[in-house]
Amino acid sequence: MTENTPDTVAVGIDIGGTGIKGAIVDVTTGELLTERKKLATPEGGRPDDIAQTVLQLVDSLGEIPAAAQVGICFPAVVRHGVTMSAANVSKKWIGFEAEKLFEKELGRDITFVNDADAAGFGEVKYGAAKGRGGLIIVTTLGTGIGTALIYNGVLIPNAELGHLEIEGVDYETKAAYSAKEREDLSWKKWAARLQKYYDQLQKLFSPDLFIVGGGVSKNFEEFIPLLDLSTEIVPATLRNNAGILGAACLSTMKTTFLE
Ligand code: BGC
Repeated sequence: MTENTPDTVAVGIDIGGTGIKGAIVDVTTGELLTERKKLATPEGGRPDDIAQTVLQLVDSLGEIPAAAQVGICFPAVVRHGVTMSAANVSKKWIGFEAEKLFEKELGRDITFVNDADAAGFGEVKYGAAKGRGGLIIVTTLGTGIGTALIYNGVLIPNAELGHLEIEGVDYETKAAYSAKEREDLSWKKWAARLQKYYDQLQKLFSPDLFIVGGGVSKNFEEFIPLLDLSTEIVPATLRNNAGILGAACLSTMKTTFLE
């Protein structure tokens, strides 16, 4: 790590409902400089417990250059460091000064962002849409549906399009990967729901590209070919590292503009 100047080195932490992952990364190349470490999300997902687990994770990464930035992503709407919602974590996060809590716990400045925004930004900076312009919608299909909107390299944060209402329901409850598992849906039946979801996004936004992320994207051959869309749709390529890389990268930037 010594050959890297501090401003190219950052820490990325990805907090989820079941696990918290992190690594030190080189933000110019998108390369992980340490092994990716993972700890279980503490039961109940309460702020203090999660903050302590993050501290433990950061400590396990080894020596971090003093000037290195730290980016943390989390499954909630995040406005100016305050979490405005809570998906699969304690409701205590709603209206909570999250960025401040982590800054206190880690003893340094951090950048706190939505998990899908981080993963989406990571894919556009280093992964499936590297170097692409236009309007890109990144969707992460997991416990919920996370979305990121990136237009010509500018991230428009907190899109929350997983909660589009279709047929009178919050469609995340029908089309997230957790719905497939919960209802034991075949790939075909699940793809029929995804078809409705992406049709709606296509109608509302006319994007240039959809990227499909989340753990299930490794099985993309099972469902992406079943979708009939005029918009190009491709699997994410960074897999489990997307949130880490995106959060790390965003922490080194003054704006959400991709240079
Ligand atoms: C939340 C989003 C989050 C997504 C993926 C949704 O339920 O509302 O904020 O990005 O899940 O974790």
